[in-house]
This record gives sequence, C-alpha cells and structure tokens, in this order.
Amino acid sequence: MKGLWLGLAVGTTFTCLLGQWVFSAASKETDSPKGISPEIVAEYVHSVVQADRTFYQTEILDRMRQKGMVFASEHWRADGGLPLHAQILQESGRLAAEQRKGMRVQLISSWAINKAHRPTTEFERTGLLKILANPDRPYTAVTTEGKARIFQALYADKAASQYCADCHNVHPNSPKRDFKAGDVMGGMLITIVLPQ
Ligand code: HEC
Repeated sequence: MKGLWLGLAVGTTFTCLLGQWVFSAASKETDSPKGISPEIVAEYVHSVVQADRTFYQTEILDRMRQKGMVFASEHWRADGGLPLHAQILQESGRLAAEQRKGMRVQLISSWAINKAHRPTTEFERTGLLKILANPDRPYTAVTTEGKARIFQALYADKAASQYCADCHNVHPNSPKRDFKAGDVMGGMLITIVLPQ
C-alpha cells in the first residue's frame, strides 16, 4: 500500500513536471519575436558587406587585372577604370544612407589615404585603438548624434593579402608605408540610428 502511494506521488509529480515543460515549450514557439538587437543587425550587415567586397576583389578586380582587360583605378570616373574596393563601399554606403533608413557603412583608419576617412569622434578614436589590440571582436557603443541615439560597431579591417598592404604602402597620400599581410589597416564602421 505504501509502495502504491509512493508510486502515485512520483507519477503525479512527473506528469505535472512534464506537462509544465511541454506547455512552456509550446508557449515559447508561439511567442512573437521582440525585435533584433542592434549588435546582431550590425553582425548581419558586416558579414554581407564584407562578403560582397571579397567577391568584388577576387572575382572581378583580380580577374580583370589578370586578363589585362581593365584595372581598378582611384580616378575611375575620369579614366574609365573600375572603382577600388573602398570606393565601392563608399558609393553603396552613400546610396544606402540616401534612402534614409537610418544606417551607414564606412571605412575609417588612423592611417587613411583619404583624409575624410580619418577618425573624427571619440568613439572612432577609441574604437580604432581597441580593434588594433583585439581585432577579433567589434568595438561597440550606444552614443548620440545631434538628437538621435545611435548604435555603432567598428570591425577590424585586415590586409587579407600582401596586395592590400603593397597598394597602401606606395600610395603618395598614405601616412604609413610598412603594412604587412594580416595587419589591421583600419575598420568598417556600421552606424544604426535607434528608435527614439
Ligand atoms: C589598388 C590599390 C588598393 C588596394 C589593393 C587596396 N586598397 Fe584600400 N584603399 C586604396 C585607396 C586609394 C583608398 C582611398 C580611397 C578613397 O579615396 O576613398 C583606400 C581606402 C582604404 C581604407 C579606408 C581608409 C583610407 O585609407 O582611406 C581601408 C581601411 C582600406 N583601404 C583597407 C584595405 C584592405 C583591407 C585591402 C585589401 C583587402 C585594401 N585596402 C586594398 C587603395 C587600395
């Protein structure tokens, strides 16, 4: 008899716990999504932009150059060359910003060839130092810009090959001439305007 009561008690407890678990699992599935954090949005944007950039460099610029067809040129608008990697990013970033959806993508560097890419805010100056010390993690913060609250993420931009380093090292406007493959050359800055 004692065994029966014990068995009944254990069985009831087990059934209740299982019921609870099934119920909570089912209710999780029906939860509506609460929105994606800006950290994750920045991760998505960074991975897509970086993939497009790598594809453009290896499958378009490098192939065109190897076939002797057309070369990448800084003054592409005037001389009919193809835009450089940084210029593609700049142009697409400008078009995206024009849509006024509250997002910007830029390249910045402490050793920028183009002076407009040098750091101008406290976040950018600190971030460039942080990603130099810790290139595997983006530097992120929520700051303000005028009246808007913004989320910013700065990702290390590394010389994927010696070709990146060589082109920067010989450019007349480059303040640094000893980049090597693998070095952090600057950062990709992603800015997302947060809802007010
Ligand atoms: C053929 C030459 C060339 C190659 C190859 C090249 N760059 Fe650049 N890069 C430039 C020029 C020129 C600019 C400035 C463009 C402008 O005026 O906006 C630039 C801009 C940049 C910037 C923004 C800061 C700045 O200097 O203005 C970063 C960061 C950068 N490049 C990183 C890289 C990385 C990483 C690679 C390789 C994956 C690479 N570059 C390959 C020529 C090159």
